[in-house]
Formats: sequence, structure tokens, C-alpha cells
Amino acid sequence: MKGVIVLCLKELVQKNYGEDKWLDALRISSIEKEPAILPISDVDDALVLKVVDSLLKVLGISMTQLGDAFGDYWVNVYSQRMYSIYYKESDNAKDFLMKMDDVHYTMTKKMKDAHPPRFDYEWKDDKTMIMHYKSRRGLIDIMVGLVKAVGKYYNEPLKVEKLGGDKVSIVFP
Ligand code: HEM
Repeated sequence: MKGVIVLCLKELVQKNYGEDKWLDALRISSIEKEPAILPISDVDDALVLKVVDSLLKVLGISMTQLGDAFGDYWVNVYSQRMYSIYYKESDNAKDFLMKMDDVHYTMTKKMKDAHPPRFDYEWKDDKTMIMHYKSRRGLIDIMVGLVKAVGKYYNEPLKVEKLGGDKVSIVFP
């Protein structure tokens, strides 16, 4: 997984839960020395998932809660620093989400070892979309949190619901 995601997770934990919580999670993941991570570095997926698991224990929260916290921090804080152009290019949550497959594919195309998630879009009626999540990482709760946060960014009351491990139902207002 690209370092940018790990760096965002680390900043979220340090700022919203406390510096010591990140270190506690590394310790119980048996990571003695944190490797230097750059946004474009590739961090072993298994290691990231291990730290995520440790964070749930250290913070005493569920994966749903971590997904919501991460989604909000990525969309409304972290990615605004370097990727705000993508948000400004869309006027509403629907247009932004419809671009996400292309954005993930295009922006990681030139990054070595990137395996971005891909998305398919299925419309049930003119307000209800099923967003299919295709990734071997199984981070559907992060996906749900990110979609909710996009609704918050565009000030739209989206109804977001997880449908198993690989799809999310989104009802637009
Ligand atoms: C402008 C906003 C966004 C940018 C620039 C962006 C970019 C990225 C990048 C670079 C990665 C790492 C990919 C890799 O390691 O190969 C990633 C991961 C991810 N992105 Fe985004 N992303 C954005 C918004 C979103 C949104 C709104 C969603 C959900 C609809 C989303 C879903 C995910 C998920 C679930 C992952 C974790 C990796 C996985 O599950 O395989 N992203 N994103």
C-alpha cells in the first residue's frame, strides 16, 4: 500500500487520539523500529493490516469506527493539502465518486508497485448507486467511511450502507 495512506493514518491517530497510541500500536505489532515512509513508498500490505488491527485494540474502537475516522480525515483534512484540485473539479458527491475509478487508476499508473482499488458503478434507480469495490485488501469499512466523508465534504446527506465485503449502496438526496 502506498505510503501516503499510512502517513495519513499515522497523522489521524497522533492528532485525534494521541502520539502514544501510534507507538503502542507499533509495539503490539512487533515493529521495533518504524521504517522511514514517503508518500510514494510501498509499504507491505500485511504490515499495514497488522497495524490497523493493533490500532483497533489500542484505541478500543471497531473497524467501522476506524473506517469512518480515516475516511473523514483523508477526505476533509489530509487529501485537501495536495489533491484539492480533484474535489474542486466536481460540484457534487455523485460526480466526484463517479470519477474515483479513473482517479485511482490514472494517478497510480506511474507509481511503481501500486495496486489501487478499482470501482464499478451500478445504478439501481436515478438516486441509488451500488459502488463495487475491487481490491485484494478487503478494506470495505475504509471505503464506506470515505464515501460518507465525501457526502460531508459536499454537504449532502448521503445514505451509505455496506453490502457485504465488496459493495456499498449510496442513496443521493
Ligand atoms: C482525491 C481523492 C483521492 C485520492 C487522490 C486517492 C488516492 C489513493 C491512493 C494513492 C491510494 C493508494 C493505492 C495503492 O496503494 O496502490 C488509495 C487507496 C484507497 N482509496 Fe483512494 N483516493 C481518493 C479518494 C478516495 C475515495 C473517495 C474512496 C472511496 C470511494 C477511496 C477508496 C480507497 C480505498 C478503499 C483505498 C485503500 C486501498 C485498497 O482498498 O486497496 N479513495 N487512494
